[in-house]
Amino acid sequence: MHSLGILLSGRGSNFVAIADSIDAGRIRDARIAVVISNKADAPGITIARQRGLNAVVIPSKGQAREEHDCEVVGALKNNAVDLVCLAGYMRLLSPWFVRQFPRRILNIHPSLLPAFPGLEAQEQAFAYGVKISGCTVHFVDEELDHGPIILQKMVQVLDSDDEHTLAARILEQEHIAYTEAINIVLDGGFQVDGRRLKKTWK
Ligand code: GRF
Repeated sequence: MHSLGILLSGRGSNFVAIADSIDAGRIRDARIAVVISNKADAPGITIARQRGLNAVVIPSKGQAREEHDCEVVGALKNNAVDLVCLAGYMRLLSPWFVRQFPRRILNIHPSLLPAFPGLEAQEQAFAYGVKISGCTVHFVDEELDHGPIILQKMVQVLDSDDEHTLAARILEQEHIAYTEAINIVLDGGFQVDGRRLKKTWK
């Protein structure tokens, strides 16, 4: 049984999608061991409590990154977490944090990386005038929105879109993509060659 640790800072819809996938058996042999928020008022942490999950707030405000990361890693290890899923976690992880879980930290980003890293990726893509955007699930490394890509989903930008309708359609795909990516990583049927993740199953 795999133990997932979810890190979030806000709304938590990707966390809910992962929890729903576990409950529905779309992600098998896994449980959410802990949900951690750096913000006490994150709606996602309230939902985690309502779902009866182990929900922990570790405030980041006023704390040095290393100290905060140390507490978060401590909570993940105390709960025997073997896969960390960033789900709207608005903090850059320190290199030390990344080294604690080699190839075991995933992030989801609402653009087709390497286009539009950073904040408000959907708005950036919309303003740029791209015709295709989407989302990316990738391994986390020391750089922002940067590690090897596990999978991407494409979303067409329609003439009738504004940044909100585009973001909403990307979010639908995010919820599907995260479950697929977790299954790929937990199944282990892949190798990472440089930046390229390749399936090793037929
Ligand atoms: C998502 O768009 C995700 O791609 C980005 O932050 C947002 C989090 O949304 N990293 P939610 O909290 O999962 O609803």
